[in-house]
Amino acid sequence: MRHLLSAQDLDRDAAIRVLDTAGQMAATQAREIKKLPTLRGRTVVNLFFEDSTRTRISFETAAKRLSADVINFSAKGSSVSKGESLKDTAQTLQAMGADAVVIRHQASGAPHRLAHSGWTNGAVVNAGDGTHQHPTQALLDAYTIRRHLVGDSGRADVSGRDLQGLRVAIVGDVLHSRVARSNVQLLHTLGADVTLVAPPTLVPVGVEAWPARVSYDLDAVLADEQPDAVMMLRVQRERMSNAGGGFFPSPVEYSRGYGLDGRRLRNLAEHAIVMHPGPMNRGLEISAEAADSPRAVIVEQVANGVAVRMAVLYMLLAGEQTTNVKVDAA
Ligand code: CP
Repeated sequence: MRHLLSAQDLDRDAAIRVLDTAGQMAATQAREIKKLPTLRGRTVVNLFFEDSTRTRISFETAAKRLSADVINFSAKGSSVSKGESLKDTAQTLQAMGADAVVIRHQASGAPHRLAHSGWTNGAVVNAGDGTHQHPTQALLDAYTIRRHLVGDSGRADVSGRDLQGLRVAIVGDVLHSRVARSNVQLLHTLGADVTLVAPPTLVPVGVEAWPARVSYDLDAVLADEQPDAVMMLRVQRERMSNAGGGFFPSPVEYSRGYGLDGRRLRNLAEHAIVMHPGPMNRGLEISAEAADSPRAVIVEQVANGVAVRMAVLYMLLAGEQTTNVKVDAA
């Protein structure tokens, strides 16, 4: 693996290697080995043109726990506001010696452009581009699902290292969601059955080509499919106003039809988990009762993001042929 630009870059074996490596990373953290020496002398640049809390901080934490030097770049307050281009920004950071560039950008395709432009020699990791892809979010979601639902601690009829046989419902603003696109691809690669649930106005054109069912009826999906994991998506109002289309259905109609509230929560299967990539619109796509319930693994998703991003940086920069994480403390 030279770059990680899309969930499609990962076949089943590669995805499982990332999840297994993340498990090893998490084990070192549980043993209070806070820092591994693996990436000492390497530089990771976090290049964020769009706002982020979880992804930016967890990539920074991951790189530091692997002993890499970290340069954090945020477009706000930089020369981007004076009109500097992605090319000139990337070349400036390359001059400082980037071994990996973690990029979030509002334009779909920006990480791909960076990876194949020659503007950087580093490995490029997509930390979210437009409505296109967010592969490390999909990996941390798969990792979280596997931890809860697969193996000894999970459902009795599901075993192994992939997600074969699990049912996942992805609910909400699919149209604007890079999380949905990445998750559909990765969950399918790992063998899960995915159903997308959304109002017709928030379903993308061409969705019939995706490896997922589509429904407009959340209550029917919860009752008929009894999903093992329900992944709620953030309603991305900032992307709707750009299109001039407003928000339809209205927030009240949306909550009634597609929000996860206490009533729907109580109808889930006993083992089912509730997920959300964050940030949440509480009271819109998810009620406080659902977000704070014992079934919700939303905070754990954030914690798992550090282990997964450690695994990705490790595999890109230390060589993915390495199968066992060296755990000597730094
Ligand atoms: N899930 C996610 O990408 O969150 P941030 O926008 O806070 O990074």
